[in-house]
Amino acid sequence: MSASIAVPFGSAPAGPPISPDTFNTIAGLAKTRAGIVLTPDKGYMLDTRLATILRRDNLPNLNALAQKLRGPGAEPLMKDVVEALTTNESSFFRDGKPFEHVARIVPALHAKRPPGQKIRIWSAACSTGQEAYSLAILLSELGLANRPFEIFGTDLSREVVERAREGLFTRFEVQRGLAVQRLVKHFAQEGAAFRIKPVLRAACRFEERNLLGEHRALGQFDLIFCRNVLIYFDMPTKAKVLGALAAQLAPDGALYLGGAETVMGLTDRLVPLPGERGVYGPVGKAG
Ligand SMILES: C[S@@+](CC[C@H](N)C(=O)[O-])C[C@H]1O[C@@H](n2cnc3c(N)ncnc32)[C@H](O)[C@@H]1O
Repeated sequence: MSASIAVPFGSAPAGPPISPDTFNTIAGLAKTRAGIVLTPDKGYMLDTRLATILRRDNLPNLNALAQKLRGPGAEPLMKDVVEALTTNESSFFRDGKPFEHVARIVPALHAKRPPGQKIRIWSAACSTGQEAYSLAILLSELGLANRPFEIFGTDLSREVVERAREGLFTRFEVQRGLAVQRLVKHFAQEGAAFRIKPVLRAACRFEERNLLGEHRALGQFDLIFCRNVLIYFDMPTKAKVLGALAAQLAPDGALYLGGAETVMGLTDRLVPLPGERGVYGPVGKAG
């Protein structure tokens, strides 16, 4: 590991300053395992994000953690550290517009697809499932007669995938983006929390999956949501992921990115759909 980065890494609560080697060990792991770029100015985050692991493993500070990561048998710890460094912020119907586009494109796909063929949507980097369940709610409300649909949510983090599978959300979470009528119609209260109703939960499947991996076996999707994750990657990683997503997208399908994300300068396999923000189609697609 290089020790060449200058100092502003913050310091562990009761320990020595984080050494450049420590920063490089942890940042290197985030980059190689998840594609996540941590720059030295984000070093302050490490204390907070990794505090639970330090306590759990009885480690006095991040330098001790990095030493353990460099030692033998560190694979499970590496996975925990990378997961702890992910940002899992999400909300129902996040940013509104993409879901308005889905409400327009899905009836058109329904009209084109043979009867009985599933409409398949991939929520790639789904976090705790709000995006996937928003899509399930939306599709159920579109009332597409006898049209089966499948929503496939994937994320690198085991913990958020487990939470997504549960479909159980706090009051705070359901208050973020979910209209009261939808809450009443599609969720059942369980104590202080709210669980998505079984029919919608059954339409969603969740799996641990790294976006940096191989996705060909997943088959083709009509729509792919990959929102608010590319922002953490460098350009070559964004380009690689976008290329892999384009390969899984139906010729008349659409890819949805976050507000701060684009395909421009990264791939020639996807183009912005005219008049839409953050919605992309495979090259050659008409309108
Ligand atoms: C900010 S959340 C976005 C959630 C949702 N897409 C949204 O827009 O609300 C980013 C998610 O990306 C996941 N993530 C980060 N790197 C990943 C990778 N290499 N492969 C799969 N998921 C990743 C994180 O675990 C996190 O849950």
